[in-house]
Amino acid sequence: MTRANEPGWLVVLEGIDGAGKSTVIRRMLAYLAEAGRECVTSFEPTRGPWGMKLRQSMIEGRLSLEEELELFLKDRAEHVENLILPALRQGKVVILDRYYISTAAYQGARGVSPEWVLMTNEQFAPKPDLVLLLDFDPAGGLDRIRARGDAPNTFEQLEQLREVRRIFLSLDRPFIRTIDASQEPEAVWNACKVELERLFPGGTLAAGKSAL
Ligand code: TYD
Repeated sequence: MTRANEPGWLVVLEGIDGAGKSTVIRRMLAYLAEAGRECVTSFEPTRGPWGMKLRQSMIEGRLSLEEELELFLKDRAEHVENLILPALRQGKVVILDRYYISTAAYQGARGVSPEWVLMTNEQFAPKPDLVLLLDFDPAGGLDRIRARGDAPNTFEQLEQLREVRRIFLSLDRPFIRTIDASQEPEAVWNACKVELERLFPGGTLAAGKSAL
């Protein structure tokens, strides 16, 4: 069976803030580079015009659900066109910090149907090969955000986050793997590594090296 993103791979980290996505991405980059795989990493919202508008709204006050949805879709369409698809076509492993699964969960928590969000995005955005959903109790997540000296933004109020988590866990897509992110960072990484290794033919990442 051919993979949808061949010759590249699309790996996405998802979960509420404070679950440790950036740490896993750092470890993943080092691990894949060691195995001889070329990687590109990126994030959403991007720093493009639509993404910056969204980031501004996190500080200044949220937009309406309709405006938010429209901006996330525009931001993603640009991201797909300018970065994601070109890198996949070059056979790279694209690692994203958030993707349309976040839209299903966060904007879903504001009232739009999560399944509608998934289907709408899947009309233009390539489906991931793997989504690592770092699952974590939001009460703990907020503590971690505060511990690193950041104030939780307006997207991240506790009740809202509980709903976001519930939706993340309810999403029905075969490429989503839930990882218990309340474990020690080493255990979280090991669980992610197991899923990552399954993606590659023969189960060995080192194949990237011999193919060069
Ligand atoms: P975040 O990953 O926290 O950005 P950064 O760490 O660079 O500041 O994302 C910002 C917020 O955007 C986060 O609270 C989740 C929210 N978000 C959505 O509501 N919908 C989406 O589709 C995406 C990608 C993010």
